[in-house]
Amino acid sequence: PVTIYPDEFVASVKVAQRIAELIRYKQGRNEKAVLGLATGATPVKVYAELVRLHREEGLSFRNVITFNLDEYYPMQPTAVQSYVTFMNENLFDHIDIDKNNVHIPDGTLPLERIHDYCLEYERKIESLGGLDLQILGIGRTGHIGFNEPGSAPNSGTRLVTLDDLTRRDASRDFGGKENVPRKAITMGIGTIFKAREIILMAWSGKKAPIIKKAVEGEISSDVPATYLQLSDNVEFVLDVDAASELT
Ligand code: F6R
Repeated sequence: PVTIYPDEFVASVKVAQRIAELIRYKQGRNEKAVLGLATGATPVKVYAELVRLHREEGLSFRNVITFNLDEYYPMQPTAVQSYVTFMNENLFDHIDIDKNNVHIPDGTLPLERIHDYCLEYERKIESLGGLDLQILGIGRTGHIGFNEPGSAPNSGTRLVTLDDLTRRDASRDFGGKENVPRKAITMGIGTIFKAREIILMAWSGKKAPIIKKAVEGEISSDVPATYLQLSDNVEFVLDVDAASELT
């Protein structure tokens, strides 16, 4: 299903409310909530609203376990562009989550250890009962996580090569495309698909063409987000501008 909101502020509050509802439901049952999280511009206001709910409405994250979709490779966690820094600044430093419950792919591993590390990332998610809810943005290549065109529907967590357009879109953060890492570690399409609920968000007219393809286009590895059409557990949450090319 597709839900269209007047703007990204209203939409982000709605998504944050859904996350809070899940966390509180799990708390009531004395269970952990296992969340799949994204970085980038898209979820920033969702995280801001979660921080507000924590500060002003007592929402606790003590029963929350998180797995981030991806991290650049190579990447030091302390670098300003790392997704570790992003998550700390936008969410984790402002809530009461136990940092032991936070998982973000490690961008510092030697190449030969990445394969085992990725299998372990998958195993950890499974051992906790799987992802209750996965949050997604979408790249202009149609990537979800960093699953670029050509990604297989059953792909797992792995090292991938970033698309040229993705590196160009990231160039501002890195002060030039030549400084953007060529690779990343990302959850796979298969990993994402196993989540019991998936919310893909997109804001602004810049995303309108890829949203049209993702929602209405033929399912194909050329646009990995089209795989989401195959799942009943996916909600596309859009602002009017991102939805403007939908028929
Ligand atoms: C980020 C991620 C990416 C972004 C996508 C959109 O963890 O997995 O798929 O969601 O590149 O980025 P923004 O939100 O910056 O437009």
